[in-house]
Amino acid sequence: MRLMTEYLTVDDNDVQLRDGTIKLHGPAAFEGMRRAGRLAAEILDALVPLVVPGVRTDALDDFVRQMTLDAGAIPATLGYRGYAHSCCISVNHVVCHGIPSEKTLKDGDIVNIDVTPLLDGWHGDSSRMYLVGDVPLKARRLVDVTYECLMIGIEQARPGARLGDIGAAIQAHAEKQRYGVVREFCGHGLGRLFHDAPEVIHAARAGTGPELRPGMFFTIEPMINLGKPGVKILDDGWTAVTRDRSLSAQFEHSIGITEDGCEIFTTSPKGLDKPPYA
Ligand code: MF3
Ligand code: CO
Ligand code: CO
Repeated sequence: MRLMTEYLTVDDNDVQLRDGTIKLHGPAAFEGMRRAGRLAAEILDALVPLVVPGVRTDALDDFVRQMTLDAGAIPATLGYRGYAHSCCISVNHVVCHGIPSEKTLKDGDIVNIDVTPLLDGWHGDSSRMYLVGDVPLKARRLVDVTYECLMIGIEQARPGARLGDIGAAIQAHAEKQRYGVVREFCGHGLGRLFHDAPEVIHAARAGTGPELRPGMFFTIEPMINLGKPGVKILDDGWTAVTRDRSLSAQFEHSIGITEDGCEIFTTSPKGLDKPPYA
């Protein structure tokens, strides 16, 4: 067990190691993350008109790969721990890490698409929910509340706050609606690395965990279930689903802690951060 949180002020041009330290980045890194994050947001924006009934999820993955490559970036998931796709597409009761396939989307589905372009050495990691055709009210409510959870978490992110303040705010908001907060997957530090310290848990106690300091980069990516919080992994080794097969939703932003708050790197330039997008 790590007794002390170690912070490491990094040279933005240096190689960074996955050594458990929380990296504190400088202005050049913020600029790199702004560009990578903006590309992630542009990809999620471009998907809006494509996420319709009848589309195959592997066709959406092809689109993500092509747009990422055309922008001079690489999908960080491609080849990551044996993952062979350019994004994750998680439909209905799939919590996260859904694998693009020949399966088609159908009217009433709720879908998370999670992209991570690696641009000039920086990772922009973001996901949004999409509504396919006519979605029932209780599913739309889950999507709305999950977005609120993400943004309420981000509101806690400023120097001097603790990481646990973020999870506490998210958990309180979700549980007020009797939704379940997934425990098995967390947000994460990122930058030159895709998944780095710290782990950003989405159900936590306020006042606990590492103190937030300017220059920290991490994601917040709450997964919220309409039912119980439990998940299981399917035999493909990736797909996480709700144990009770209830619907699940997720949104993700990549952020950086600034002197007086935080900067969101993955905001939609078109104002399409959450549905309805029409
Ligand atoms: N983008 C996901 C995250 O938010 C990670 C996906 S890893 C994969 O951390 F291999 F499943 F694609
Ligand atoms: Co992430
Ligand atoms: Co992601």
